[in-house]
Amino acid sequence: MRRGALALSAVLLVSPGLADDGPAPTWVEQARSGAGALGSQLKQALQTAMADGGPVAAIDVCRIQAPEIAADVSSRRLQVGRTALKVRNPDNTPDHWETRMLEAFEQRLANGEDPAQIEIFAIRNEAGRRYGHWMKAIPTQGLCTACHGTELKPEVAEAIDTAYPQDQARGFSVGDLRGAFSVEIDLDSD
Ligand code: HEC
Repeated sequence: MRRGALALSAVLLVSPGLADDGPAPTWVEQARSGAGALGSQLKQALQTAMADGGPVAAIDVCRIQAPEIAADVSSRRLQVGRTALKVRNPDNTPDHWETRMLEAFEQRLANGEDPAQIEIFAIRNEAGRRYGHWMKAIPTQGLCTACHGTELKPEVAEAIDTAYPQDQARGFSVGDLRGAFSVEIDLDSD
């Protein structure tokens, strides 16, 4: 997502869990609430669109509303988005750090960890500024398989192919890691 050109120079802190490490910093709470807002607004838009017009109509809603809602819940200081190892929208392609974290999430899921608990945060230095980076796993649910599952209806597959000719985000089963919320906060900005 976004800030792709900036090379990651140093990771100061990587915390795989929270319970053992005391309370999370304030910026982590802000990241959680930004991602929570994106997740709940998106899910509501998706459910309404699926009920109203079925999955083909809902693809358009996702295509248009996902970036809009992400922009709405973001600010100059705090960037909220979604990413995945296999993306539908190339704009969501993970950067190097996000890729490593997604791979670590896959491993944690394979080790039996509850996906609802899989999150991570780190502070990194880039060009003399400090950035807080937080990610949280997004598991595949039943609702998701209409558009990300192993057997898409032909009309759904066709609509996705048209809108996303490079789509990689299908073939998922319930419980698989679909992707992650990813939030970046400029810690040196008010
Ligand atoms: C109606 C079809 C549809 C359904 C159902 C659906 N998605 Fe998607 N999903 C999309 C589309 C279209 C995109 C690309 C959005 C964009 O252009 O930003 C997408 C993108 C994503 C992304 C961002 C990464 C990427 O691949 O670009 C994630 C994560 C994601 N979906 C997770 C889910 C989850 C979890 C569910 C179930 C709760 C779900 N989706 C249900 C159509 C769908």
